[in-house]
Amino acid sequence: MSVQPSAPPASKRAAITLHSLMKMYSEGEKISMLTAYDASFAALADLAGVEVILVGDSLGMVCQGHNSTLPVTLEDMRYHTECVARSVQKQHGRPIVLGDMPFGTYATPEQAFRSASVLMQAGAHMVKLEGGVWLAPTVEFLVTRGIPVCGHIGLTPQSVNTLGGYRVQGRTDNAAQQLMQDALQLEKAGAQMLVLEMVPAVLSGDITRALSTCATIGIGAGVDTAGQILVLHDMLGVTQGKVPKFAHNFMNEASTILEAMQAFVRAVKEQRFPVNELHAW
Ligand code: KIV
Repeated sequence: MSVQPSAPPASKRAAITLHSLMKMYSEGEKISMLTAYDASFAALADLAGVEVILVGDSLGMVCQGHNSTLPVTLEDMRYHTECVARSVQKQHGRPIVLGDMPFGTYATPEQAFRSASVLMQAGAHMVKLEGGVWLAPTVEFLVTRGIPVCGHIGLTPQSVNTLGGYRVQGRTDNAAQQLMQDALQLEKAGAQMLVLEMVPAVLSGDITRALSTCATIGIGAGVDTAGQILVLHDMLGVTQGKVPKFAHNFMNEASTILEAMQAFVRAVKEQRFPVNELHAW
């Protein structure tokens, strides 16, 4: 794998803290976020300049070959979080490492604290949980105990069986109002980031503007969020079979993986990605 020398020298790139990320957000700079599951890709994402690496439970699909994220265990997440965090620390230590809480590990605040502690001790700086209003007391419980939280609403893949498939959420007035309430309650509980997945662009713009201390990160949610995330395998064109409609293969405009990641970061910062979600749903 070749690494291009075009990234700024490590010495010029200070480590990102939640504090500096929130400053970026309040100043209107777009946040770039990619998934990574191992040391090599985490090092490239760091070099490319992403602010947040999500060790996503999507690893169940793209690494383990399952057809949902449900089989992923806390031990799987601990292992991959450790691989990514070790690499980031050895490399430039710049991005925030966000650990994803797998299915069935945060049904109560106490269980969530125990599970989140495992990921934090593996090197995560923050954890992500899927769910709306019902999760607000858990978010508050974690934040109060020193664990920063990223929420995740809209299409929540761990609930694929109750949602009836991987489909756009928030299309009716009631569903849109519910998502707005979810976002407001999660922010009030202390979540500082919120992934909006497969939500109509107009709604995600409204949610983004309604929040003031919680940065929205879109995936299939239009350009008006505070930042964007893509699953690594989707943006490198590695995904076989059903590629999400909102994904873009950044290898089309790059000759190395590092260049593709850098193109993603630039496109997010310059609001050139995503381009067509406004018309997609
Ligand atoms: O697990 C994951 O990769 C995710 C993203 C799709 C946001 O949750």
